[in-house]
Amino acid sequence: MLTNAPRGTKDIYGSYMNDWKKVEESVNKICTSFGFNEIRTPIFEHTELFARGVGETTDIVQKEMYSFMDKGDRNITLKPEGTAGVVRAYLERKMYADAQPTKLFYLTPAFRYERPQAGRYRQFHQFGVELFGSDKPSADAEVIALAANLLNDLGITNVKLHVNSLGGPECRKKYNNVLKEFLSKHIDELCPTCLERYEKNPLRILDCKNEKCQALLKDAPLAVDTLDSECKEHFEELLRLLDAMEIEYVVDPWIVRGLDYYTRTVFEFISNDIGAQGTVCGGGRYDKLVEECGGSPTPAVGFAAGIERLIMTIEAINGASQHEPKRDIYLGYVGENAKKTTFALINELRRNNISAETDLMSRSVKAQMKYANKIGAKYSAIIGDNELEENSIRIKNMETREQTDLSIQEIVKFMKDNIK
Ligand code: HAM
Repeated sequence: MLTNAPRGTKDIYGSYMNDWKKVEESVNKICTSFGFNEIRTPIFEHTELFARGVGETTDIVQKEMYSFMDKGDRNITLKPEGTAGVVRAYLERKMYADAQPTKLFYLTPAFRYERPQAGRYRQFHQFGVELFGSDKPSADAEVIALAANLLNDLGITNVKLHVNSLGGPECRKKYNNVLKEFLSKHIDELCPTCLERYEKNPLRILDCKNEKCQALLKDAPLAVDTLDSECKEHFEELLRLLDAMEIEYVVDPWIVRGLDYYTRTVFEFISNDIGAQGTVCGGGRYDKLVEECGGSPTPAVGFAAGIERLIMTIEAINGASQHEPKRDIYLGYVGENAKKTTFALINELRRNNISAETDLMSRSVKAQMKYANKIGAKYSAIIGDNELEENSIRIKNMETREQTDLSIQEIVKFMKDNIK
C-alpha cells in the first residue's frame, strides 16, 4: 500500500512532464489568441452542483463521483468535470454583468470512479473552455476552432472532428418520443441500463456499448433528422462557418455525449490511434445549464480535452519523448576554498538565468565530470586551489571539446554570451 499509488492515478514526471508542459504552453498561447481568460475553481464543490449540473441520469452522477461528508456535515464532491464549477463561478462572481460573451478556460484535475484502462483514469486532467452569453452558431464555431487550433499546434493530425445537433428542448422532447416509439417494439431486448434510460433519458441509449442494444439501434430515428427549422438553421450555419475556416468534420448523428446538459451542437475530436478511449476532446452547447443552476437564462457553449489523452495522441505520432536533462554548466570544485568560490559563482550564474549545477555529493573530480556528462551539461569546469591562485579556469564545451581559459570573473559573461 505504502508504495502503490491508488488505482487509476498517475505520477507526472520525467519526459511525461516535458510533454505536459508543452500542452500547457500551447493551451495558454492558443487561448490568449482567442481572448479566453483563465479561471481556477476549487477542486471540490457541493455535491448538489454536479447532481444538478451534470445530470441525475448520467453515469458520472449515478456511479462515478468521489463524494463524502466533510467534518461540518456538508455533502462534498471532487469535481468530475470542469463545466459545473465554472457555471457556479460565473453566477456567484456576477460575470454576466461584464461585457458579454464571457470567455473562460481552465486546466484542472478531475475525478471519476471508473474502471481504469488505457486513457481512462480515476484522477485525470482536463483543459476546457466555456463561452457564456451567445446563442449564435458563431460561438460554437469559435470554440470548435479553438480546439482545432490547439490540436494543430500540438501536431495532432490523427484526429477527426465529429459534429451533431441534438436540437433544443422542444426538439429533444419530440425526438425522445420518436425514439421511444421506435424502441417500444424491442423493449424486452434492451440491457438493464438502457431499460432505465428508456424511461428517464432515451437519448442516452444511443451511447450504449452493449452489442445487442447497438444492433437494435441500427435503424433508429436520428435527432439530426428531427430538428425544427431554427435548430436546423443553427446547425447549418455552424457547418458553413467550419467550412469557411477550412476545419474538416463529419456530421455524425451518433454523437450524443455522456452528460445531460447539452442542447443543439455536440462534437467530439476522435482518434483511432489510442485504443477504445479515443475521444480526445468533447463538448457542445448547453443553453439551459446556467438557468438550471439558478441563474437567468444564459446560452453557453464549451468543450474539454483530457490532457492524458492529448499526450497519448501526440505519442502515437511521435513516440514517447525522451527525458533530456539539460544544464548550461556544471561547475565542480576541489577543496574548501574552491567550494565557497564555486557556490558564489553558481549563485550568480543562476541569477543570470543560466542553469548551473555543482557538487552536492563530495565526489572526486572524475566522478564530477561523469555526472556533468550524465546531466547533459553544455559546459563544464573545475575550480581548485591552482585556479584560485592563478585566477584562471578552463571551461570546456562538452560537445565540441573546445576549451577556453578565462579569469573567474569572466565566467558569467562568457556563459551569457554563449548560451541562448
Ligand atoms: P467529457 O466528455 O466527459 O466532457 O470529458 C471531456 C474529456 O475528458 C474527454 O474527451 C476525455 O478526453 C477526458 N476524460 C473524461 N473522462 C476521463 C477519464 N476517466 N480519464 C481520462 N480522461 C478522461 C466533459 O467533461 C464536459 N465538461 C465537456 C464540456 C465543457 N462540455 C461543455 N463544456
